[in-house]
Formats: sequence, structure tokens, C-alpha cells
Amino acid sequence: MTKADVLIIGSGVAALQLAKRLRDDKNVIIITKSFLKNGNSNLAQGGIAAAIGKNDHPDSHFADTLEAGGFHNDRAAVLAVTKEAPDLIEELSEEGCRFDTDEQGGLLLGMEGAHSENRIVHGGGDATGRRIMEHLASAAAGKCTIFENTFVFDLIIDSSGRCIGAKGKNADGNIESFFANHVVLATGGCGQLYSHTSNAETVTGDGIALAYKAGAEIADMEFVQFHPTLLYLNGKTHGLISEAVRGDGGRLVTEAGVPIMEGVHPMGDLAPRHIVAQKIYDYLREGTSIYLDVSAIKNFAERFPTITALCEKNHVEWKSRIPVAPGSHFLMGGVKTDLIGRTSIKGLYAIGEAACTGLHGANRLASNSLLEGLFMGKKLSEWINEGRRDEVGIEFTEIRRPLSGCIRLPEIKDIKRTMMENTGIVRSEEGLLKQKRWLESFQLEEWLNADLGHLNFEEMTRAFMLITSWLITDSALKRTESRGGHFRSDHPCEKNHDWMGRQIIQKRNDQN
Ligand code: SIN
Repeated sequence: MTKADVLIIGSGVAALQLAKRLRDDKNVIIITKSFLKNGNSNLAQGGIAAAIGKNDHPDSHFADTLEAGGFHNDRAAVLAVTKEAPDLIEELSEEGCRFDTDEQGGLLLGMEGAHSENRIVHGGGDATGRRIMEHLASAAAGKCTIFENTFVFDLIIDSSGRCIGAKGKNADGNIESFFANHVVLATGGCGQLYSHTSNAETVTGDGIALAYKAGAEIADMEFVQFHPTLLYLNGKTHGLISEAVRGDGGRLVTEAGVPIMEGVHPMGDLAPRHIVAQKIYDYLREGTSIYLDVSAIKNFAERFPTITALCEKNHVEWKSRIPVAPGSHFLMGGVKTDLIGRTSIKGLYAIGEAACTGLHGANRLASNSLLEGLFMGKKLSEWINEGRRDEVGIEFTEIRRPLSGCIRLPEIKDIKRTMMENTGIVRSEEGLLKQKRWLESFQLEEWLNADLGHLNFEEMTRAFMLITSWLITDSALKRTESRGGHFRSDHPCEKNHDWMGRQIIQKRNDQN
């Protein structure tokens, strides 16, 4: 048994920002199921949105975030985050995190979809995530104990309903219980539920499934963002081609060179992501390949070294045009929290993509995700740093049941294929019902009550993917309108104002 003040599950930007900012006298543990820098944060290309340009203002960032989010956003969250963004950048710069600058030392500000101003701060060209992760990891190292290759398979809830810890299994198969005053889910989203994704292998919705299993409220799960441009070869996607490429002049065209976004949206190639992704999807379904024409971009290799390397690795001639397709990129929903990261379970917090603060609404504005991770890591650290240090109890009631011998789990490839087909870019009641029934045929209820401790890592992943896929599908069925990242071919329009901010909340034994 291991005890700490703060137990952080996951190791992306939100987790490391929290660890970095916690007071030195706090005993902090980070548990990650893979290696410290193996998640999505490290892959982030575009950057961090902040209204710091001469003609820019947080109000404009606020307005763009709401517009991209289909006005489903929590306005207080949008206001707080967009207002604090410039300070967060300044703080990182002062600590020595290196962003790209011009010859006078001013920050270079890129453009991305649905932004009305150039406001994307970036580092290492298109390697912003790696840059920030290196900075945060070195600042947090030495302040916490890190358990890598340890898969958290259960949260520990005491008899009063408070979360007091988590159980993890390491690569040798040993199970350990970790107890803490504050248990933080920073496990990221669930891009790997889909066959086409920009996400790291590890991003399988574990934290959301853990929280739901423990009885926490989950919100907005129907809102999944599909990034329009992933490198696409032979029916498979191979990683992200940043929106910043379109911000620097890249254009989406057919094989014959016809631009596809003209007349579709006033912002053309830089329209909100769901609009661009749906357009490309329509073409691909008709059998027309779509390319990102980059021939107008000067110094492409210098500005986009990560993308250049990705193309070269896949033998794609990047100097003219790059074949692309949409893929799952970001989950707007997650464990419902306030702006400190508190969930509906005492002692349990969620930050970063695992959480739903309401910032992103129905569709996240480009480069607002690293920003949210930095913001929430900071807010939670301030709250914990100021808070009382109450003793951790270790009395809890074991409510998990041993698994009955014959229950099955779906194969990962089948989850990904069916989610893409039925709960993907275009959804309908028929497909969603089919998917829900298929997922439920694997005795979901039993998995929700089961002790997963005897499973191996792959089986645990499959169990969590099953639960998170069900949450998305169930929520998508309940939202009988189209908004942001949720498009229903049988309900293609946005409903009235009443639906604008209405959240679908899922909680065990309390479905609305
Ligand atoms: C991109 O670089 O296109 C992705 C950035 C983001 O998702 O915010």
C-alpha cells in the first residue's frame, strides 16, 4: 500500500502542469500506463491559442470558442480560460519554455481553423506538444514519484462515497493500492475507439470508464471531434497533418485540383473542423480522393518538420500535395467537472481531455486543448495548495464482484471498425441502435461491477473501450439534433435554444 497527498493518473500536459505547480511539501505520485511522454500531448502540433497579438483581444478568442462550440459551451469556462491564456503563455516563457519567435524576439502567431486572428503560439515549428512536455516533465521531475507501465483498473471509494485512491497493476502483474487525499484523472480522451485517429495508441478512454464505473457524472459524450486532415494511404490513416498547414496557405483539393471548400463556409479551408471533416468524408464516400495542396507554402520543411518527417517515413512526396482523410481527434465530453476539476465524487478530480468543463461546447476550437490542460492543472494546483491536509482513510467497502467465467470482451479492431461505421462522423438512429445493441451484447453491466484485477493490460483496455464506446453511443442516440462534432443524418439541423446548452449527463443507475 502506498500513500500520497495527490495521486495523478495520467501524464500529459494537464498532469505535469499540476505536478509542477504543487507545493514542494506535497507528496505527489504520477501513475501512467505506458511511459511518461507517450500520450497525445507529446504529439500536439498546432500550438496554444492565446489572444496576445496587437489587434487581438480575449473577447475575440471567447467569441471564436463559442462559435466553434455551437454555443453549447459553458460561458464562464470560456471566459475564464480565454482571459487567462496570455498569462499562461507568459508564465511558461518566463520559466524558459521556448516558443518560436521572430528576429525581434516577438512570439510568432499562427492561424488555425475558426480563429478570427493569428493567435497560435507554437514551438519547434509543429512540435509544440513535445516542447511543452519536455519543459513540464523536467520542471515536475524530482517533485513526484512516477510509476510507469502501471495500469489503473479501479478507483477506491470509501463507505461515505469519497474517492480515496486507486488500484493499479504493473507490467509484472503485481497489484498495488494507492491512497491519497486527492485522486486526479488526467488520462486523456478516447481517440483510439475509432479506426481512423490522430491519437496515441494509449488513448482509450480509461479514465472516463473508471469514473463512470465508480458512479461519477459523465457529460457531453456525443461530441467527438474528427480532425479533417490525417495522412491517408491505402485506406489507413497515419498521423496528423496540422490545421496550421491550412493556416499557412494549404488548400483542400480533389485529384483534379478542384478546391472543395469554396462556397461551403465563409472561412473556406479554415472553416470549423466538423464542417471540413464532413465535407471530406462526403467526397471519400463517393470514391473521390482528397489532397492537401501545400505547393504555395514556402519553407514547408522548416515550418513543419514533424509533418515532413511523417510524410517521408510514409514515402509521400510532401512538396506538392498530401492525401488526407478525417479521423477522431478529441473528445469534448468526459468526466463532468467544475473549473477546479472537482467531479461529482468527493476526492476525485478530472483535468485535461478526460474532463468536461464545458469549455469546448460541441466542438473544440483549434489549439484550445493544451490551453485547457495548462489552465486546469494550474487551477487544481492552487486549490490543493491552499486546502486543508486531511488524513487519508483507508477503510473501504469492497463492492466489486469476481467475473463470472463466461463473459466476453469485443476485439479492439471490431470496436474501432464499428464505432467508425455507426458512431462516427455521420450518425443515424439506425446505426447508433445497432452499435448500442452490439456493445450491450458483451454484458456491459457485469463489466461495470466486475473486479478487473485479474485481467491483463490488453483485456483491461478492451473493457474500458467497451464502456467508453457505450457512453458515446448512448449519448449520441439521446441527442436528436446535429451540433458541432455530433452530426445526425436523421436530425441534420440544430434544435432550438433550449437544446443549445442542454447537456446529456450519464451516471450509473441514473440515466436521464
Ligand atoms: C492541429 O495542429 O491541427 C491540431 C491542433 C489542435 O487539435 O488543437
